[in-house]
Amino acid sequence: MAQSIPKEFINHLLEKVNIVDVINGYVKLEKKGNDYWARCPFHNEKTSSFSVSESKQFYYCFGCGATGNAITFIMEHTNKTYPEAIEELANSVGMDIPRTRESNEKYEAKKTIQNALEDAKKLFTDNLKRSEKAINYLKNRNISGNTAKQFEIGYSEDDFHNLGRALGENYSESNLIDAGLLVKKDKNSYDKFRDRIMFPIFDIYGKVIAFGGRDISGDKKIDVAKYMNSPETSLFSKKKVLYNLHIAKADKISKDTLLIVEGYMDVIALHQSGVNNVVATLGTAVTPDNLEQCFKYTKEIICCFDGDRAGKDAAWKGVRNIMSVIKDGNNISFVFLPEGRDPDDIVNEGGKDLWLKYIEQKVSLEDFIYNKYSDEVNLETAAGKTQYLQKIEELLKPLKAPIFKKILHESLNDRIGSKYLPPSELKDPKKEKISSNKAKSPLQKAILILLHHPSINIDEELLSDKRIASNEGVILLKSIAKNISESQPTNLGRIIENFRNDEKNYKTLEKISVMETIDLEWPEKEFNACLCLVIKNFLKEELKNVDPLNLEKFSNIQREIYEIQEKAKNY
Ligand code: CTP
Ligand code: MN
Repeated sequence: MAQSIPKEFINHLLEKVNIVDVINGYVKLEKKGNDYWARCPFHNEKTSSFSVSESKQFYYCFGCGATGNAITFIMEHTNKTYPEAIEELANSVGMDIPRTRESNEKYEAKKTIQNALEDAKKLFTDNLKRSEKAINYLKNRNISGNTAKQFEIGYSEDDFHNLGRALGENYSESNLIDAGLLVKKDKNSYDKFRDRIMFPIFDIYGKVIAFGGRDISGDKKIDVAKYMNSPETSLFSKKKVLYNLHIAKADKISKDTLLIVEGYMDVIALHQSGVNNVVATLGTAVTPDNLEQCFKYTKEIICCFDGDRAGKDAAWKGVRNIMSVIKDGNNISFVFLPEGRDPDDIVNEGGKDLWLKYIEQKVSLEDFIYNKYSDEVNLETAAGKTQYLQKIEELLKPLKAPIFKKILHESLNDRIGSKYLPPSELKDPKKEKISSNKAKSPLQKAILILLHHPSINIDEELLSDKRIASNEGVILLKSIAKNISESQPTNLGRIIENFRNDEKNYKTLEKISVMETIDLEWPEKEFNACLCLVIKNFLKEELKNVDPLNLEKFSNIQREIYEIQEKAKNY
Protein backbone atom coordinates (compact mmCIF):
# COMPACT_ATOMS: atom_id res chain seq x y z
CA MET A 1 0.00 0.00 0.00
CA ALA A 2 2.77 2.37 0.99
CA GLN A 3 4.35 2.02 -2.42
CA SER A 4 1.18 3.03 -4.22
CA ILE A 5 1.66 6.69 -3.35
CA PRO A 6 4.55 8.10 -5.39
CA LYS A 7 7.63 9.18 -3.46
CA GLU A 8 7.75 12.53 -5.22
CA PHE A 9 4.29 13.28 -3.96
CA ILE A 10 5.29 12.54 -0.38
CA ASN A 11 8.30 14.78 -0.78
CA HIS A 12 6.13 17.61 -2.07
CA LEU A 13 3.67 17.03 0.71
CA LEU A 14 6.31 17.21 3.43
CA GLU A 15 7.62 20.38 1.84
CA LYS A 16 4.19 21.94 2.07
CA VAL A 17 3.04 20.94 5.55
CA ASN A 18 4.61 22.42 8.63
CA ILE A 19 5.03 19.96 11.46
CA VAL A 20 4.45 22.71 14.02
CA ASP A 21 0.96 23.41 12.62
CA VAL A 22 0.20 19.72 12.30
CA ILE A 23 1.11 18.88 15.89
CA ASN A 24 -0.43 22.08 17.22
CA GLY A 25 -3.74 20.78 15.90
CA TYR A 26 -3.54 17.99 18.48
CA VAL A 27 -1.29 19.22 21.27
CA LYS A 28 -0.85 22.80 22.44
CA LEU A 29 2.75 23.74 21.64
CA GLU A 30 4.69 26.50 23.31
CA LYS A 31 7.70 28.18 21.73
CA LYS A 32 10.84 28.24 23.85
CA GLY A 33 14.08 29.16 22.15
CA ASN A 34 14.25 27.71 18.65
CA ASP A 35 11.88 24.83 19.31
CA TYR A 36 8.31 24.19 20.35
CA TRP A 37 7.48 22.25 23.49
CA ALA A 38 4.57 20.41 25.05
CA ARG A 39 3.77 17.66 27.49
CA CYS A 40 4.38 14.49 25.54
CA PRO A 41 1.21 13.02 24.00
CA PHE A 42 2.85 9.57 23.91
CA HIS A 43 3.46 9.15 27.61
CA ASN A 44 2.11 10.68 30.78
CA GLU A 45 4.21 13.41 32.28
CA LYS A 46 3.98 16.58 34.34
CA THR A 47 6.72 18.59 32.64
CA SER A 48 7.26 19.22 28.94
CA SER A 49 9.82 16.92 27.39
CA PHE A 50 8.26 16.77 23.95
CA SER A 51 10.06 19.03 21.47
CA VAL A 52 9.21 19.96 17.90
CA SER A 53 11.79 21.50 15.62
CA GLU A 54 10.41 23.64 12.84
CA SER A 55 13.67 23.82 10.94
CA LYS A 56 14.18 20.05 11.08
CA GLN A 57 10.48 19.20 10.69
CA PHE A 58 10.97 16.58 13.35
CA TYR A 59 9.73 15.87 16.86
CA TYR A 60 11.50 14.19 19.72
CA CYS A 61 10.51 13.38 23.29
CA PHE A 62 13.37 13.45 25.79
CA GLY A 63 11.23 11.43 28.19
CA CYS A 64 10.06 8.45 26.19
CA GLY A 65 12.13 8.73 23.03
CA ALA A 66 9.16 9.09 20.66
CA THR A 67 10.36 10.58 17.41
CA GLY A 68 9.45 11.16 13.79
CA ASN A 69 8.17 13.58 11.18
CA ALA A 70 4.65 14.88 10.53
CA ILE A 71 3.53 11.60 8.96
CA THR A 72 4.83 9.54 11.88
CA PHE A 73 3.10 11.87 14.31
CA ILE A 74 -0.29 11.45 12.65
CA MET A 75 0.17 7.68 12.47
CA GLU A 76 1.19 7.36 16.10
CA HIS A 77 -1.10 9.91 17.62
CA THR A 78 -4.31 9.15 15.75
CA ASN A 79 -3.70 5.48 15.20
CA LYS A 80 -3.75 5.78 11.42
CA THR A 81 -2.11 3.71 8.75
CA TYR A 82 0.56 5.22 6.53
CA PRO A 83 -1.76 5.98 3.59
CA GLU A 84 -4.39 7.38 5.95
CA ALA A 85 -1.85 9.69 7.54
CA ILE A 86 -0.75 10.89 4.10
CA GLU A 87 -4.37 11.48 3.21
CA GLU A 88 -5.01 13.55 6.31
CA LEU A 89 -1.94 15.70 5.68
CA ALA A 90 -2.78 16.07 2.00
CA ASN A 91 -6.31 17.18 2.87
CA SER A 92 -4.99 19.71 5.35
CA VAL A 93 -3.00 21.49 2.65
CA GLY A 94 -5.44 20.88 -0.18
CA MET A 95 -3.36 18.42 -2.20
CA ASP A 96 -4.86 15.50 -4.12
CA ILE A 97 -3.13 12.15 -3.81
CA PRO A 98 -2.25 10.61 -7.16
CA ARG A 99 -3.24 6.96 -6.96
CA THR A 100 -2.63 3.84 -8.90
CA ARG A 101 -5.76 2.25 -10.35
CA GLU A 102 -5.76 -0.56 -7.81
CA SER A 103 -5.40 1.62 -4.74
CA ASN A 104 -7.97 3.99 -6.14
CA GLU A 105 -10.51 1.19 -6.47
CA LYS A 106 -9.96 0.11 -2.88
CA TYR A 107 -10.28 3.67 -1.72
CA GLU A 108 -13.52 4.19 -3.65
CA ALA A 109 -14.98 0.95 -2.32
CA LYS A 110 -14.32 2.06 1.26
CA LYS A 111 -15.83 5.44 0.57
CA THR A 112 -18.98 3.77 -0.77
CA ILE A 113 -19.34 1.62 2.34
CA GLN A 114 -18.80 4.65 4.50
CA ASN A 115 -21.53 6.56 2.67
CA ALA A 116 -23.94 3.63 2.85
CA LEU A 117 -23.44 3.39 6.61
CA GLU A 118 -23.99 7.12 6.97
CA ASP A 119 -27.24 6.84 4.97
CA ALA A 120 -28.31 3.81 7.01
CA LYS A 121 -27.77 5.81 10.18
CA LYS A 122 -30.10 8.50 8.81
CA LEU A 123 -32.69 5.92 7.85
CA PHE A 124 -32.60 4.35 11.32
CA THR A 125 -32.90 7.67 13.17
CA ASP A 126 -35.82 8.66 10.90
CA ASN A 127 -37.46 5.31 11.58
CA LEU A 128 -37.15 5.91 15.30
CA LYS A 129 -39.02 9.20 15.09
CA ARG A 130 -41.94 7.38 13.51
CA SER A 131 -41.98 4.31 15.70
CA GLU A 132 -44.02 4.59 18.85
CA LYS A 133 -42.90 1.15 19.89
CA ALA A 134 -39.20 2.02 19.70
CA ILE A 135 -39.68 5.36 21.40
CA ASN A 136 -41.58 3.68 24.21
CA TYR A 137 -38.88 1.09 24.60
CA LEU A 138 -36.26 3.80 25.08
CA LYS A 139 -38.54 5.69 27.44
CA ASN A 140 -39.00 2.58 29.53
CA ARG A 141 -35.28 2.30 29.77
CA ASN A 142 -35.04 5.93 30.89
CA ILE A 143 -33.24 7.15 27.79
CA SER A 144 -34.12 10.80 27.21
CA GLY A 145 -34.81 12.19 23.75
CA ASN A 146 -31.69 14.28 24.10
CA THR A 147 -29.50 11.30 24.87
CA ALA A 148 -30.98 9.35 21.96
CA LYS A 149 -30.11 12.26 19.71
CA GLN A 150 -26.58 12.56 21.07
CA PHE A 151 -25.84 8.89 20.46
CA GLU A 152 -27.79 8.98 17.19
CA ILE A 153 -29.82 5.99 18.30
CA GLY A 154 -32.18 4.64 15.66
CA TYR A 155 -34.59 1.85 14.88
CA SER A 156 -34.62 -0.84 12.20
CA GLU A 157 -38.16 -1.67 11.10
CA ASP A 158 -39.73 -5.08 11.59
CA ASP A 159 -39.41 -5.62 7.85
CA PHE A 160 -37.05 -7.72 5.72
CA HIS A 161 -36.65 -5.07 3.02
CA ASN A 162 -36.98 -1.65 4.62
CA LEU A 163 -33.28 -0.81 4.28
CA GLY A 164 -32.84 -2.68 1.03
CA ARG A 165 -35.55 -0.60 -0.57
CA ALA A 166 -34.52 2.75 0.91
CA LEU A 167 -30.82 2.45 0.12
CA GLY A 168 -31.21 0.30 -2.97
CA GLU A 169 -31.67 3.39 -5.12
CA ASN A 170 -28.14 4.61 -4.48
CA TYR A 171 -26.23 1.44 -3.69
CA SER A 172 -25.91 -1.92 -5.33
CA GLU A 173 -26.83 -5.08 -3.46
CA SER A 174 -23.18 -6.02 -3.15
CA ASN A 175 -22.30 -2.57 -1.75
CA LEU A 176 -24.86 -3.08 1.00
CA ILE A 177 -23.66 -6.60 1.71
CA ASP A 178 -20.08 -5.34 1.93
CA ALA A 179 -21.28 -2.69 4.35
CA GLY A 180 -22.80 -5.42 6.52
CA LEU A 181 -26.31 -4.03 6.13
CA LEU A 182 -27.79 -6.79 3.98
CA VAL A 183 -27.43 -10.54 4.34
CA LYS A 184 -27.61 -12.91 1.41
CA LYS A 185 -29.08 -16.34 1.72
CA ASP A 186 -29.40 -18.55 -1.33
CA LYS A 187 -30.26 -16.01 -4.00
CA ASN A 188 -32.10 -13.50 -1.89
CA SER A 189 -30.82 -10.67 0.19
CA TYR A 190 -32.61 -9.12 3.15
CA ASP A 191 -32.02 -6.57 5.91
CA LYS A 192 -29.62 -7.82 8.57
CA PHE A 193 -31.12 -5.70 11.34
CA ARG A 194 -34.85 -5.97 11.93
CA ASP A 195 -36.99 -4.72 14.78
CA ARG A 196 -33.97 -3.54 16.71
CA ILE A 197 -32.86 -0.41 18.50
CA MET A 198 -29.83 0.64 16.48
CA PHE A 199 -26.63 1.99 18.00
CA PRO A 200 -24.24 3.43 15.43
CA ILE A 201 -20.64 2.52 16.24
CA PHE A 202 -18.12 5.24 15.42
CA ASP A 203 -14.38 5.28 14.86
CA ILE A 204 -12.27 7.71 16.86
CA TYR A 205 -12.92 10.47 14.33
CA GLY A 206 -16.67 10.10 14.73
CA LYS A 207 -17.37 8.31 11.43
CA VAL A 208 -19.93 5.48 11.48
CA ILE A 209 -18.22 2.19 10.82
CA ALA A 210 -20.79 -0.35 12.05
CA PHE A 211 -23.96 -0.85 14.06
CA GLY A 212 -25.06 -2.70 17.13
CA GLY A 213 -28.73 -3.61 17.34
CA ARG A 214 -30.82 -4.59 20.35
CA ASP A 215 -33.81 -6.76 19.70
CA ILE A 216 -37.11 -5.29 20.91
CA SER A 217 -39.44 -7.89 19.48
CA GLY A 218 -40.17 -9.15 22.99
CA ASP A 219 -41.34 -12.74 23.28
CA LYS A 220 -42.81 -12.72 19.77
CA LYS A 221 -39.73 -14.39 18.31
CA ILE A 222 -37.89 -16.78 20.52
CA ASP A 223 -34.68 -17.53 18.70
CA VAL A 224 -33.28 -14.07 18.04
CA ALA A 225 -30.08 -12.87 19.68
CA LYS A 226 -30.65 -10.00 22.07
CA TYR A 227 -27.74 -8.08 20.60
CA MET A 228 -26.32 -8.23 17.13
CA ASN A 229 -23.32 -6.40 15.66
CA SER A 230 -22.36 -5.65 12.10
CA PRO A 231 -20.12 -8.35 10.66
CA GLU A 232 -16.41 -7.67 10.15
CA THR A 233 -16.04 -5.34 7.16
CA SER A 234 -13.21 -3.37 5.60
CA LEU A 235 -14.03 -0.59 8.07
CA PHE A 236 -14.91 -2.58 11.15
CA SER A 237 -13.21 -5.11 13.38
CA LYS A 238 -15.08 -5.66 16.60
CA LYS A 239 -11.99 -6.62 18.56
CA LYS A 240 -10.35 -3.32 17.78
CA VAL A 241 -13.18 -0.88 18.29
CA LEU A 242 -14.53 0.56 21.51
CA TYR A 243 -18.01 2.02 21.60
CA ASN A 244 -18.04 5.75 22.41
CA LEU A 245 -14.27 6.26 22.47
CA HIS A 246 -14.58 9.23 20.09
CA ILE A 247 -16.74 11.07 22.64
CA ALA A 248 -15.11 9.78 25.83
CA LYS A 249 -11.61 10.74 24.77
CA ALA A 250 -12.62 14.39 24.54
CA ASP A 251 -13.72 14.42 28.17
CA LYS A 252 -11.23 16.04 30.54
CA ILE A 253 -11.49 13.33 33.19
CA SER A 254 -10.55 10.73 30.59
CA LYS A 255 -6.96 11.98 30.75
CA ASP A 256 -6.85 10.52 34.27
CA THR A 257 -9.24 7.59 34.12
CA LEU A 258 -11.25 5.84 31.47
CA LEU A 259 -13.91 3.25 32.30
CA ILE A 260 -14.48 0.18 30.18
CA VAL A 261 -17.90 -1.43 30.56
CA GLU A 262 -19.62 -4.27 28.72
CA GLY A 263 -22.68 -2.85 27.00
CA TYR A 264 -23.99 -0.04 24.81
CA MET A 265 -26.79 0.65 27.25
CA ASP A 266 -24.29 0.90 30.10
CA VAL A 267 -22.31 3.58 28.29
CA ILE A 268 -25.44 5.49 27.42
CA ALA A 269 -26.99 5.32 30.88
CA LEU A 270 -23.72 6.38 32.51
CA HIS A 271 -23.29 9.22 30.05
CA GLN A 272 -26.81 10.44 30.72
CA SER A 273 -26.10 10.50 34.44
CA GLY A 274 -23.01 12.64 33.90
CA VAL A 275 -20.28 10.01 33.70
CA ASN A 276 -18.65 10.76 30.37
CA ASN A 277 -15.32 8.94 30.57
CA VAL A 278 -16.76 5.60 29.59
CA VAL A 279 -16.42 3.20 26.65
CA ALA A 280 -17.69 -0.33 25.96
CA THR A 281 -16.24 -3.40 24.32
CA LEU A 282 -18.43 -4.91 21.63
CA GLY A 283 -19.35 -8.27 23.06
CA THR A 284 -15.73 -9.45 23.42
CA ALA A 285 -13.33 -9.61 26.34
CA VAL A 286 -11.04 -6.59 26.65
CA THR A 287 -8.35 -7.08 23.99
CA PRO A 288 -4.73 -5.82 24.02
CA ASP A 289 -5.73 -3.56 21.11
CA ASN A 290 -8.49 -2.04 23.25
CA LEU A 291 -6.12 -1.39 26.12
CA GLU A 292 -3.37 0.01 23.97
CA GLN A 293 -5.78 2.38 22.32
CA CYS A 294 -7.17 3.59 25.65
CA PHE A 295 -3.71 4.27 27.05
CA LYS A 296 -3.21 6.77 24.26
CA TYR A 297 -5.76 8.94 26.01
CA THR A 298 -5.59 8.00 29.67
CA LYS A 299 -3.35 7.07 32.60
CA GLU A 300 -5.68 4.63 34.27
CA ILE A 301 -8.19 2.19 32.87
CA ILE A 302 -10.93 0.93 35.16
CA CYS A 303 -12.55 -2.24 33.85
CA CYS A 304 -16.06 -2.81 35.16
CA PHE A 305 -17.48 -6.30 35.28
CA ASP A 306 -20.39 -8.23 36.60
CA GLY A 307 -19.33 -9.80 39.91
CA ASP A 308 -20.28 -13.34 38.81
CA ARG A 309 -17.88 -16.07 37.69
CA ALA A 310 -18.05 -14.98 34.03
CA GLY A 311 -17.23 -11.41 35.02
CA LYS A 312 -14.22 -12.54 37.06
CA ASP A 313 -13.01 -14.68 34.17
CA ALA A 314 -13.38 -11.79 31.77
CA ALA A 315 -11.44 -9.55 34.17
CA TRP A 316 -8.66 -12.11 34.40
CA LYS A 317 -8.40 -12.17 30.62
CA GLY A 318 -7.98 -8.41 30.85
CA VAL A 319 -5.10 -8.87 33.31
CA ARG A 320 -3.29 -11.18 30.92
CA ASN A 321 -3.93 -8.86 28.01
CA ILE A 322 -2.67 -5.82 29.85
CA MET A 323 0.81 -7.27 30.42
CA SER A 324 2.07 -6.74 26.90
CA VAL A 325 0.77 -3.19 26.55
CA ILE A 326 1.09 -1.43 29.90
CA LYS A 327 3.84 1.16 30.26
CA ASP A 328 5.48 2.66 33.30
CA GLY A 329 3.11 5.26 34.72
CA ASN A 330 -0.03 3.53 33.44
CA ASN A 331 -2.45 1.82 35.76
CA ILE A 332 -5.38 -0.57 35.57
CA SER A 333 -7.94 -1.52 38.17
CA PHE A 334 -11.17 -3.48 38.35
CA VAL A 335 -14.65 -2.87 39.60
CA PHE A 336 -16.86 -5.86 40.33
CA LEU A 337 -20.54 -5.09 40.48
CA PRO A 338 -23.04 -7.13 42.47
CA GLU A 339 -23.99 -10.30 40.63
CA GLY A 340 -26.46 -9.83 37.82
CA ARG A 341 -26.36 -6.04 37.89
CA ASP A 342 -24.77 -3.88 35.28
CA PRO A 343 -23.90 -0.16 35.26
CA ASP A 344 -27.23 0.61 33.58
CA ASP A 345 -29.13 -0.98 36.50
CA ILE A 346 -27.02 0.86 39.05
CA VAL A 347 -27.43 4.26 37.45
CA ASN A 348 -31.16 3.72 37.16
CA GLU A 349 -31.30 2.86 40.81
CA GLY A 350 -29.12 5.54 42.38
CA GLY A 351 -27.71 7.80 39.65
CA LYS A 352 -24.12 8.97 39.43
CA ASP A 353 -23.67 9.02 43.24
CA LEU A 354 -24.36 5.34 43.64
CA TRP A 355 -22.14 4.58 40.66
CA LEU A 356 -19.23 6.49 42.16
CA LYS A 357 -19.60 4.48 45.38
CA TYR A 358 -18.90 1.34 43.37
CA ILE A 359 -15.98 2.96 41.59
CA GLU A 360 -14.46 3.81 44.97
CA GLN A 361 -14.34 0.09 45.72
CA LYS A 362 -12.13 -0.65 42.75
CA VAL A 363 -9.62 -3.45 43.16
CA SER A 364 -6.03 -2.68 42.22
CA LEU A 365 -4.15 -4.88 39.77
CA GLU A 366 -1.87 -6.20 42.52
CA ASP A 367 -4.79 -7.02 44.81
CA PHE A 368 -6.59 -8.78 42.02
CA ILE A 369 -3.57 -10.90 41.16
CA TYR A 370 -2.94 -11.69 44.81
CA ASN A 371 -6.56 -12.67 45.47
CA LYS A 372 -6.64 -14.97 42.49
CA TYR A 373 -3.34 -16.74 43.10
CA SER A 374 -3.65 -17.00 46.87
CA ASP A 375 -6.97 -18.72 46.22
CA GLU A 376 -5.38 -21.24 43.90
CA VAL A 377 -2.53 -22.39 46.15
CA ASN A 378 -2.03 -23.19 49.81
CA LEU A 379 0.05 -20.37 51.18
CA GLU A 380 0.51 -22.19 54.48
CA THR A 381 3.10 -24.44 52.90
CA ALA A 382 6.50 -23.79 51.36
CA ALA A 383 5.44 -25.60 48.19
CA GLY A 384 2.31 -23.45 47.91
CA LYS A 385 4.35 -20.28 48.33
CA THR A 386 6.72 -21.49 45.65
CA GLN A 387 3.83 -22.14 43.27
CA TYR A 388 2.52 -18.66 44.03
CA LEU A 389 5.89 -17.12 43.15
CA GLN A 390 6.13 -19.23 40.00
CA LYS A 391 2.71 -18.08 38.85
CA ILE A 392 3.71 -14.47 39.37
CA GLU A 393 6.96 -14.96 37.53
CA GLU A 394 5.06 -16.46 34.60
CA LEU A 395 2.36 -13.78 34.58
CA LEU A 396 4.76 -10.85 34.69
CA LYS A 397 7.08 -12.25 32.04
CA PRO A 398 5.57 -10.34 29.09
CA LEU A 399 5.40 -7.09 31.10
CA LYS A 400 7.65 -4.59 29.39
CA ALA A 401 7.40 -1.67 31.82
CA PRO A 402 10.62 -2.16 33.82
CA ILE A 403 9.82 -0.02 36.85
CA PHE A 404 6.24 -1.24 37.18
CA LYS A 405 7.41 -4.82 36.82
CA LYS A 406 9.85 -4.44 39.69
CA ILE A 407 7.30 -2.75 41.96
CA LEU A 408 4.60 -5.32 41.17
CA HIS A 409 7.04 -8.12 41.87
CA GLU A 410 8.07 -6.54 45.17
CA SER A 411 4.52 -5.93 46.28
CA LEU A 412 3.30 -9.42 45.38
CA ASN A 413 6.30 -11.10 47.00
CA ASP A 414 5.97 -8.94 50.07
CA ARG A 415 2.49 -10.25 50.74
CA ILE A 416 3.75 -13.73 51.40
CA GLY A 417 6.83 -12.52 53.28
CA SER A 418 9.27 -13.32 50.50
CA LYS A 419 11.94 -10.83 49.54
CA TYR A 420 12.10 -10.01 45.86
CA LEU A 421 15.56 -9.89 44.35
CA PRO A 422 15.49 -8.22 40.98
CA PRO A 423 17.57 -9.89 38.28
CA SER A 424 20.89 -8.11 38.00
CA GLU A 425 20.34 -7.26 34.35
CA LEU A 426 17.46 -4.98 35.32
CA LYS A 427 18.75 -1.59 34.41
CA ASP A 428 17.20 1.80 34.70
CA PRO A 429 16.13 2.46 31.09
CA LYS A 430 16.46 6.21 31.56
CA LYS A 431 20.11 5.97 32.47
CA GLU A 432 20.71 3.77 29.49
CA LYS A 433 19.02 6.24 27.22
CA ILE A 434 21.09 9.15 28.41
CA SER A 435 24.40 7.38 28.05
CA SER A 436 23.49 6.02 24.63
CA ASN A 437 22.26 9.27 23.24
CA LYS A 438 25.56 10.52 21.92
CA ALA A 439 27.06 9.59 18.60
CA LYS A 440 29.36 6.69 19.37
CA SER A 441 31.54 6.65 16.28
CA PRO A 442 32.79 9.19 13.75
CA LEU A 443 30.52 7.57 11.19
CA GLN A 444 27.42 8.06 13.34
CA LYS A 445 28.54 11.59 13.91
CA ALA A 446 28.94 12.17 10.16
CA ILE A 447 25.42 10.84 9.51
CA LEU A 448 24.08 12.98 12.34
CA ILE A 449 25.70 16.10 10.89
CA LEU A 450 24.40 15.40 7.40
CA LEU A 451 20.87 14.81 8.70
CA HIS A 452 20.89 18.12 10.50
CA HIS A 453 22.80 20.06 7.82
CA PRO A 454 21.76 18.60 4.46
CA SER A 455 23.14 21.52 2.46
CA ILE A 456 26.81 21.16 3.40
CA ASN A 457 29.41 20.58 0.70
CA ILE A 458 30.68 17.07 0.95
CA ASP A 459 34.21 16.20 -0.09
CA GLU A 460 33.24 13.63 -2.71
CA GLU A 461 36.73 12.20 -2.80
CA LEU A 462 36.47 11.23 0.84
CA LEU A 463 32.97 9.86 0.55
CA SER A 464 33.85 7.63 -2.39
CA ASP A 465 37.19 6.56 -0.93
CA LYS A 466 37.68 2.92 -1.95
CA ARG A 467 39.13 1.91 1.40
CA ILE A 468 35.81 2.40 3.20
CA ALA A 469 33.51 1.56 0.29
CA SER A 470 32.20 -1.70 1.73
CA ASN A 471 31.38 -0.25 5.16
CA GLU A 472 27.59 -0.47 5.71
CA GLY A 473 27.45 2.90 7.42
CA VAL A 474 29.35 4.52 4.58
CA ILE A 475 26.92 2.95 2.10
CA LEU A 476 24.04 4.45 4.06
CA LEU A 477 25.81 7.79 4.22
CA LYS A 478 26.25 7.71 0.45
CA SER A 479 22.62 6.95 -0.17
CA ILE A 480 21.61 9.85 2.08
CA ALA A 481 23.94 12.11 0.12
CA LYS A 482 22.55 10.82 -3.17
CA ASN A 483 19.05 11.35 -1.91
CA ILE A 484 19.81 14.89 -0.89
CA SER A 485 21.27 15.75 -4.27
CA GLU A 486 18.30 14.20 -6.10
CA SER A 487 15.26 15.31 -4.18
CA GLN A 488 16.84 18.18 -2.28
CA PRO A 489 15.09 17.66 1.03
CA THR A 490 15.77 20.67 3.16
CA ASN A 491 15.24 19.08 6.52
CA LEU A 492 15.66 15.97 8.62
CA GLY A 493 11.98 15.03 8.52
CA ARG A 494 12.05 14.80 4.75
CA ILE A 495 15.36 12.98 4.47
CA ILE A 496 14.24 10.25 6.80
CA GLU A 497 10.91 9.85 5.01
CA ASN A 498 12.80 8.63 1.94
CA PHE A 499 13.97 5.62 3.91
CA ARG A 500 10.63 4.56 5.40
CA ASN A 501 10.38 1.46 3.21
CA ASP A 502 13.94 0.45 4.03
CA GLU A 503 13.21 -0.83 7.51
CA LYS A 504 16.74 -1.43 8.73
CA ASN A 505 18.15 1.89 7.62
CA TYR A 506 15.02 3.72 8.73
CA LYS A 507 15.50 2.41 12.26
CA THR A 508 19.19 3.32 12.20
CA LEU A 509 18.42 6.82 11.00
CA GLU A 510 15.69 7.28 13.57
CA LYS A 511 18.15 6.29 16.26
CA ILE A 512 20.89 8.57 15.02
CA SER A 513 18.57 11.50 14.35
CA VAL A 514 17.76 11.90 18.02
CA MET A 515 21.31 11.78 19.23
CA GLU A 516 22.61 14.89 20.90
CA THR A 517 23.67 17.58 18.48
CA ILE A 518 26.02 20.35 19.38
CA ASP A 519 25.78 23.66 17.61
CA LEU A 520 28.55 23.39 15.09
CA GLU A 521 30.01 26.54 13.67
CA TRP A 522 31.47 24.66 10.69
CA PRO A 523 29.38 21.54 10.17
CA GLU A 524 30.98 20.99 6.78
CA LYS A 525 34.51 20.85 8.18
CA GLU A 526 33.38 18.66 11.02
CA PHE A 527 31.65 16.30 8.59
CA ASN A 528 34.68 15.87 6.36
CA ALA A 529 36.95 15.53 9.37
CA CYS A 530 34.71 12.71 10.58
CA LEU A 531 35.11 10.97 7.24
CA CYS A 532 38.88 11.26 7.55
CA LEU A 533 38.59 9.64 10.95
CA VAL A 534 36.53 6.80 9.51
CA ILE A 535 39.28 6.16 6.99
CA LYS A 536 41.96 6.42 9.64
CA ASN A 537 40.15 3.96 11.89
CA PHE A 538 39.86 1.58 9.00
CA LEU A 539 43.60 1.82 8.37
CA LYS A 540 44.39 1.28 12.03
CA GLU A 541 42.38 -1.93 11.96
CA GLU A 542 44.30 -2.98 8.87
CA LEU A 543 47.55 -2.32 10.59
CA LYS A 544 46.59 -4.66 13.40
CA ASN A 545 46.23 -7.49 10.91
CA VAL A 546 49.46 -6.93 9.04
CA ASP A 547 52.46 -9.07 9.80
CA PRO A 548 54.99 -6.56 11.23
CA LEU A 549 57.70 -8.44 9.38
CA ASN A 550 56.08 -7.45 6.12
CA LEU A 551 57.81 -4.13 6.36
CA GLU A 552 56.72 -2.79 3.03
CA LYS A 553 53.04 -3.25 3.65
CA PHE A 554 53.39 -2.08 7.22
CA SER A 555 55.06 1.17 6.30
CA ASN A 556 52.64 1.74 3.43
CA ILE A 557 49.71 1.68 5.78
CA GLN A 558 51.55 3.88 8.23
CA ARG A 559 52.12 6.35 5.44
CA GLU A 560 48.44 6.26 4.50
CA ILE A 561 47.56 6.95 8.11
CA TYR A 562 49.90 9.89 8.17
CA GLU A 563 48.44 11.26 4.94
CA ILE A 564 44.84 11.05 6.09
CA GLN A 565 45.82 12.72 9.37
CA GLU A 566 47.39 15.56 7.45
CA LYS A 567 44.32 15.81 5.24
CA ALA A 568 42.06 15.98 8.29
CA LYS A 569 43.96 19.04 9.44
CA ASN A 570 42.57 20.94 6.44
CA TYR A 571 39.12 20.65 7.89
N1 CTP B 1 -23.63 -8.63 23.32
C1 CTP B 1 -23.47 -9.13 22.05
N2 CTP B 1 -24.18 -10.20 21.63
C2 CTP B 1 -25.08 -10.81 22.45
C3 CTP B 1 -25.24 -10.33 23.74
C4 CTP B 1 -24.50 -9.23 24.14
O1 CTP B 1 -22.68 -8.59 21.30
N3 CTP B 1 -25.77 -11.84 22.00
C5 CTP B 1 -22.83 -7.47 23.76
C6 CTP B 1 -23.47 -6.17 23.40
O2 CTP B 1 -22.43 -5.28 23.02
C7 CTP B 1 -24.12 -5.71 24.67
C8 CTP B 1 -23.21 -6.28 25.73
O3 CTP B 1 -22.70 -7.46 25.17
O4 CTP B 1 -24.18 -4.31 24.75
C9 CTP B 1 -23.89 -6.59 27.02
O5 CTP B 1 -24.82 -7.60 26.83
P1 CTP B 1 -25.76 -8.13 27.99
O6 CTP B 1 -25.00 -8.37 29.23
O7 CTP B 1 -26.60 -9.22 27.42
O8 CTP B 1 -26.57 -6.82 28.20
P2 CTP B 1 -27.83 -6.63 29.05
O9 CTP B 1 -27.54 -5.68 30.13
O10 CTP B 1 -28.43 -7.94 29.40
O11 CTP B 1 -28.72 -5.93 27.93
P3 CTP B 1 -29.88 -4.94 28.15
O12 CTP B 1 -29.44 -4.02 29.21
O13 CTP B 1 -30.05 -4.28 26.83
O14 CTP B 1 -31.02 -5.79 28.52
MN1 MN C 1 -28.27 -4.07 30.86
